[in-house]
Order: sequence, then structure tokens, then C-alpha cells
Amino acid sequence: MQVFSSVTELRSYLAARRSDARRSEKKTIGLVPTMGALHEGHLALIEASRQTNDITGCSIFVNPIQFNNQEDLAKYPRTLEQDCALLDRAGCDFVFAPSADDMYPKAPSLVLNFGPLESVMEGAFRPGHFNGVGIVVARLFNIVHPDRAYFGQKDLQQVAVVRQLVEDLAFQLEVVPCPTLREADGLALSSRNRRLSPEERALAPQLYQVLTEAKERLLRGERVAEAKQFVQDYLAAIPAFRLEYFEVVHSVTMQPLEAVKPGHTALCIAAYLGPVRLIDNVVF
Ligand code: PAJ
Repeated sequence: MQVFSSVTELRSYLAARRSDARRSEKKTIGLVPTMGALHEGHLALIEASRQTNDITGCSIFVNPIQFNNQEDLAKYPRTLEQDCALLDRAGCDFVFAPSADDMYPKAPSLVLNFGPLESVMEGAFRPGHFNGVGIVVARLFNIVHPDRAYFGQKDLQQVAVVRQLVEDLAFQLEVVPCPTLREADGLALSSRNRRLSPEERALAPQLYQVLTEAKERLLRGERVAEAKQFVQDYLAAIPAFRLEYFEVVHSVTMQPLEAVKPGHTALCIAAYLGPVRLIDNVVF
């Protein structure tokens, strides 16, 4: 596995590897963008890419411009050596781990606005977040030119944002969404989980628990407003949690639903557990 921090070196490696030795066929590249502190959820994206592409790459970059909370950025775990060992074992072909100067030789002046996606959930509670995600993902696409890019449904709204970016800017690649990996107790794997205290970690699965119960209530015919009240009351009873939002939305447009839409209903939640902000969702 080769590790690059320089854009120029990565580009010449890719140019050489992309053309088949026999020059008969162009090799395909799968890209898995990450911010590092890798876990099995990230590795599942690597595996999905390996199954379809000749070459699989992972980018590791804690993207400062997508953090709207400076403490979150400062405390974001950085474990590059460990990450590279995991990726090597997982059969990843290359890692792109640029410094902030490699990624942004100049602060980007372009500003992206994703329209209706900006006004709900992560867009509403983290102003500028999707601009930062969009800029870094677009730069990665233009540096690597992948045939496919892999994203986790754990960040459902991010998948919608990336799809819109690809559509609106005509990037020639396929966005491949992959299912959320969970711990045995239901907690969605996340790099931020390692910041939870043992007490908080013991409470964390309640987030998935409440989503699952809300889903069952809606499937039994409970109204959206009632399900929302149920979630609010459930988390209010656990003082370590502070609910930021719970929304019932269309799983593709991310816009609020007034009633369940079979196959396209997403329940999305964001809550602070102590100092750590967690998000999760279920789609049905
Ligand atoms: P990061 O949080 O590191 O996540 C990288 C990718 O892994 C994302 O597509 C995310 O949805 C996926 N992922 C995280 N936890 C997962 C889980 N439990 N199961 C399956 N997939 C999971 O998302 C980002 O980084 C950044 O915003 C990025 C796209 C890299 C742009 O900076």
C-alpha cells in the first residue's frame, strides 16, 4: 500500500496505475473519503470498493472547513499510523493523507449552497458544514478521478449532498451508498464514540433504541407528531442526553414527511451525549 501526502505524487502514481499493463483496458478506481480514526464501518466501505474496482484508495483528511465547532475539530481523533495499518490489512491500494496546506494551498473562496438540503437537520444545525463537505469532496474527485465513490448511510444527508454535487457539477462517477455498521448493542460505529466516557458509552445505544421504537410506533399507525413527542420525552428522561433534532423525512430528498412513505421514510436523530455530538438514522 502506498501513502501520499502530495497531490502531484498521487496524480503521477494514479496515471501510471490506471493504464493496464497490456494497455487493453483502463483500470477502475474506487475512492473512500474519510477523516481517519478508522473503524469497521470505514473498512466495510473499503471492502465494498475492492469488490468492484481494480484499485481502491482511501483519503484521510480532517477537513477544517466542514467543522463549525472549533472544539470538535481540535478534539477530533487523529490516528494516521494505526489507520494505515488497518487499511494495509484490508487490502487498500493507496492512501491520500494530505496536510491542510496540501489540500488547500489557498483558502477556497467558492461557496456551495445545497438549497433545500441546507435548511434541514445537519444543514440547519451546522451552518457551512455541507459547503465544507462539498468543497473537499469535489477537490478529492478532481484529484483522484474515481469511477466510484463510497459513502456510509450513517451520514444519510451527506449522501444526498454528494449526489447533488455529482449531478449538478457532472462528475463522471457513481456514488455508492453503504449500510451503517453497528456495535452488538446497536450503537452506530463512529470515530467520535472513542470520546465517550464509560458511563456515556453505556448510555449511547439508547439513541438507536429510541429510533427503533419510534419506527415501530409509526409502523403501527402512530402520527408523526406523536412519534416526535415520544422521542423527546424518551431522551429527556436520560439527563446525559441533549436532543438536537429528531426528524421524519423522505430518505432521498431529506424533506420532512407528514406521514410514513413506505420504503422512503428516514428517521434521523442528532443528540449530544455529554460533550459528544452523535447522529444516527433508520430507513424503512
Ligand atoms: P468520516 O466521518 O470519517 O466518514 C467517512 C465515511 O465513513 C462516510 O461516508 C461515513 O458515512 C462512513 N461511515 C462512518 N461511520 C459509519 C458506519 N458506522 N457504518 C458505515 N459507514 C460509516 O464523513 C466524513 O468522514 C467526511 O464528511 C468526508 C465525507 C470524508 C468529507 O470530509
